[in-house]
Amino acid sequence: MTDFAGLELAKPLLRAITDDGYSTPTPIQAKAIPPLLDGRDLLGVAQTGTGKTAAFALPLLHRLSVNHAKARSRKPRALIVAPTRELAGQIGDSLRSYGRHVPLRIAVVFGGASIRPQITALLRGVHVVVATPGRLLDLMSQGHLRLDEVETFILDEADRMLDMGFIPDVKRIAAALPDRRQTMLFSATMPKTIQGLAASLLNDPVHIEVAPAATTVEKVTQRVLFVEKAKKRDLLGELMNDKDISRVLIFTRTKHGADRVARQLHQIGVNSDAIHGNKSQNARQRALKSFRSGRIRALVATDIAARGIDVDGVTHVINFELPNEPESYVHRIGRTARAGASGIAISFCDREERAYLRDIEKIIRQSVPVITDHPFHAAEIANDTGPAQKPQRNKRFGQGKGHGNGQARRNGQGRGNGQGHGNGQGHGEGRDHGEGRVQNDGNAPTQRRRAPKRHRRMENRAA
Ligand SMILES: Nc1ncnc2c1ncn2[C@@H]1O[C@H](COP(=O)(O)OP(=O)(O)OP(=O)(O)O)[C@@H](O)[C@H]1O
Ligand SMILES: [Mg+2]
Repeated sequence: MTDFAGLELAKPLLRAITDDGYSTPTPIQAKAIPPLLDGRDLLGVAQTGTGKTAAFALPLLHRLSVNHAKARSRKPRALIVAPTRELAGQIGDSLRSYGRHVPLRIAVVFGGASIRPQITALLRGVHVVVATPGRLLDLMSQGHLRLDEVETFILDEADRMLDMGFIPDVKRIAAALPDRRQTMLFSATMPKTIQGLAASLLNDPVHIEVAPAATTVEKVTQRVLFVEKAKKRDLLGELMNDKDISRVLIFTRTKHGADRVARQLHQIGVNSDAIHGNKSQNARQRALKSFRSGRIRALVATDIAARGIDVDGVTHVINFELPNEPESYVHRIGRTARAGASGIAISFCDREERAYLRDIEKIIRQSVPVITDHPFHAAEIANDTGPAQKPQRNKRFGQGKGHGNGQARRNGQGRGNGQGHGNGQGHGEGRDHGEGRVQNDGNAPTQRRRAPKRHRRMENRAA
């Protein structure tokens, strides 16, 4: 498969993606689009930044356009569910962009934004709904949305949607869908523990793995720096002297940690903002917008921004703290080196985080090279071969209900017990990544948050 024309997509779609500078389908697109056009169910695994969105969006838009019908009030023909509001918004923008020559109505619904305009949009008639689960269920229970005419159901970041934090909601959503439908699940990671659940949603699916799950993109240069916890702040300050770090996403494990790091960056004169689940939706959108536009150099984030978010030209990802879920590492560092670009990921690892690093290296099937020739390098941590204890959850971090008591998660049985993600309520952001039921007024959900991409090139991605 060398070009999009061979994929037999509807002309208006080809015109849009050609104008956007897409010349060659990425491997996941080349492999997934044909069976999806045939109506098959599909489980698709491919690295971060390799075009999974278009892999599900194009066949969906194709089917809706060739088999066109008037948009029906409250009854979409397709439903896409994603774990965060920002990702739902971005998927909506991509659909509108790829589908800009096709007369389709797309509604994006998520929490934290006023529900009124969402209700109005649904009432006026929709072909596709993109949603986060909490708001979707609210709209369903209030009678503003019915799923019984959904022909296509898509879970983006499917492994996240099927883990503890979201599965009760996803089960309720799936129960409202017709049995006869097409289902697509996509992610860059797919832990074995959730594969049974995934299978329960799919009917005779095609499995496509472009590379084994959790394979990191080759173009991310990964490094780890062993450092004393108390010195991380100074280390970050020191790194920020490097002007090559022009657009950097910095991850912390907690919301308070994100605020603290953003404050510290401000103090040393680095333009930055923080994004996490305790912020209002307006503040979240503002922070992401400033980061996209380059108004701020650093965005400090919890894992709320780890998955799916596509920002042009992120030069660096810094893990100020390592994630306690190894899959998160894959998604976090995948915010750089997208669409064939390159990028650098630097992880700070203190003594307590060595166990996290070990888990990460296990799932990515490689060891992360260590930076040893740095003044902050702590050789005694690097060389410590004793049993690495996972960090104790710490009240200061406000994570009482988080991932439980340190060892609980991924010790021997952790991944094999069918439950996967420990005994807590969620993943640092709770069940909803800030998709909570408390509704403060947000921007209209259908507002464009992202200009369509033009002239992007996917280099070195031949199938
Ligand atoms: N065929 C293509 N040619 C050129 N650019 C492409 C192509 N397909 C997608 N892109 C661009 O690649 C970038 C990454 O795409 P996308 O966000 O869909 O990746 P993803 O696989 O979903 O990543 P993640 O796992 O992080 O969600 C986007 O900016 C998109 O515009
Ligand atoms: Mg994606």
